[in-house]
Amino acid sequence: MRRYAVDGPVALEGTIPISGAKNGALKLMAASLLVPEEVVIERVPNITDVHLMGEVLERLGAKVSFGDGTVTIDASGDLSEETPYDLVTKMRASIQVLGPLLARLGRARVAMPGGDAIGSRPIDLHLQGLERMGAKFTSQHGYVEGVAHRLRAADVLLEFPSVGATENLIMGAVLAEGRTTIENAAREPEIQDLAAFLNAAGARIEGAGTPFISIEGVRELGPVRHPIIPDRVESGSYAIAAAATRGDVRLTDTRPEFFELPLQKLEQAGAEVDRGDGEVRVRMKGRPQSLDLSTLPFPGFPTDLQPPMMVLLAQADGSSIVTENVFEARFLFVDELNRMGCQIRVEGHHAVIRGIDRLSGAPVRAPDIRAGAALVVGGLCAEGRTEVYDTGHIERGYESFVEKLNGAGANVALLDD
Ligand code: UD1
Repeated sequence: MRRYAVDGPVALEGTIPISGAKNGALKLMAASLLVPEEVVIERVPNITDVHLMGEVLERLGAKVSFGDGTVTIDASGDLSEETPYDLVTKMRASIQVLGPLLARLGRARVAMPGGDAIGSRPIDLHLQGLERMGAKFTSQHGYVEGVAHRLRAADVLLEFPSVGATENLIMGAVLAEGRTTIENAAREPEIQDLAAFLNAAGARIEGAGTPFISIEGVRELGPVRHPIIPDRVESGSYAIAAAATRGDVRLTDTRPEFFELPLQKLEQAGAEVDRGDGEVRVRMKGRPQSLDLSTLPFPGFPTDLQPPMMVLLAQADGSSIVTENVFEARFLFVDELNRMGCQIRVEGHHAVIRGIDRLSGAPVRAPDIRAGAALVVGGLCAEGRTEVYDTGHIERGYESFVEKLNGAGANVALLDD
């Protein structure tokens, strides 16, 4: 069985280069379906999810080729409207082809994503927004089918600033007739990058990165070449790992402003943080201080960084309260952390963490991408050996995970027997 063997405790020390953003890459790849010419995306991380999205696009009829850190997508030929179940269940982000397919073909048939390890993840906000733009949806046999002769501009007020819904609506609106507005839009940096990419291809999107986005429809998009922004979740994961292991790590090729709140929380926990141009250094001496935090949409504390932060707080001097406001089941991995000696109690969407001196290495199972990475960080902090099973989750989202950690002094080995 594939697993990571992590020998600890170890203080991470050294330099870790940050890759292009997973969540950005997936959406830019989906948006390439809107462009009937060649698209080149640069700084694409070599991770399973990116290859799965490549497979989704190929099944839809696009030509996809991966180069050294790039992916070239040519969606100029005839496209199919169907995204099959086997791919959507492997990667929920496949749902992001809905907006582009409706815009380009006037129809789409996408398998319903269903739940996953971090909770039930409905797509009602995606569908309601696209309905306001004239799409009609039916749902049968596990698929949602949408039809729209030509999507038309609309004013959409989102009930919650959903990242995926904001992106699907932007992608639906770029070719629609007239001016679409999205109020209470998500503000994540990946949304700004999606808008920058589409604008470079000829779209007219304003306000991305604010809660009010306006999109003036254009007739057609043209060829584009665009580099992906640095991965703020990967950056935050290593920054927290540096502090949790009481180490000293310099992250390069990143943008500290994309994860400012996590950096401030690390400072509150006692870390020294030096922000530079495209880099950040995180140092921690001694035991972290306890603190409280709540996850919220950007620029709030990202839900994706809640798991590694729990590992840090599990060793803090004092008790902390973490409130999860975005994905209700994100605390499921707490049982695994408690197997490592942590004292964490979950009550609804709050977790009370009583800090202990040292974690103790144990066999654990990665339930999803972020919790998986957090368990490895737990292993770095723990006395003895930790074996993290189901490494496939981690490989979905972290490029060269083992190499990057070992480059900073960790002792992580991939075992496969
Ligand atoms: C994206 C990220 C994920 C991150 C999340 C929040 C990708 C591939 N994934 O996921 O890593 O954790 O943003 O920052 O970019 N919701 C609804 N109805 C909808 C859509 C969402 O109720 O139609 C709810 C979800 O169940 C969840 C919350 O809204 O509770 C946030 O979801 P959303 O912002 O849409 O996250 P994703 O785009 O799925």
